[in-house]
Amino acid sequence: MFFRVVFYLSIIFLISSCTSLRKMMMIAGENPMEGHPDTVIIGAQLFSKNCVQCHANDGSGNGQLAKTLDEPPANLQELAKRKSVKTFAANIYYGKNLMPAYKDVLSEEEIWHLANFVKSLGQ
Ligand code: HEC
Repeated sequence: MFFRVVFYLSIIFLISSCTSLRKMMMIAGENPMEGHPDTVIIGAQLFSKNCVQCHANDGSGNGQLAKTLDEPPANLQELAKRKSVKTFAANIYYGKNLMPAYKDVLSEEEIWHLANFVKSLGQ
C-alpha cells in the first residue's frame, strides 16, 4: 500500500514538472490581460528592454545577438498572423529551443503584456 502511494505520487510529480504539459495548461487557460487598455503599450516597452537584442525593434529577428545564434529567431510579424497569444505567452514563460525562459525574470503579468504586444505585430 505505502509503495503504491509513493509510486502514484512520483508519477504525478513527474507529469506536473513536465514543461510541455505546463505550456498546454497555459494555452488552455485565460489571457488575464485581454482587454487591458494599455497592454500593447506596456508590452512594447518591456519588449524594447528585454527582447530586441535578438528579435529587433520590429520583431523581424535581426537583433545584434541574433547573428551569434545557430538558429536565428523567426520573424514575429509573420508568426503573429498564424499563432495565438496564448502560445506566445507559454513560449515566453517557459522558453523554446534557443529562446530563453522568462518565468524567473519577468512577472506572469508582464509576460501576458508581451504576448499581447507580439500578437499585435501581425495586424
Ligand atoms: C537570446 C535571444 C533571444 C532573446 C533575448 C529573446 N528571444 Fe524570443 N526567440 C528566440 C529564438 C531563437 C526563437 C525561435 C525559437 C524556435 O522556434 O526555435 C524565439 C522565439 C520567440 C517567439 C515565438 C515562439 C513561438 O510561438 O514559436 C516569441 C513570441 C518570442 N521569441 C518572444 C520573445 C520575447 C517577448 C522576448 C523578451 C522577453 C524574447 N523573445 C527574447 C531568441 C530570443
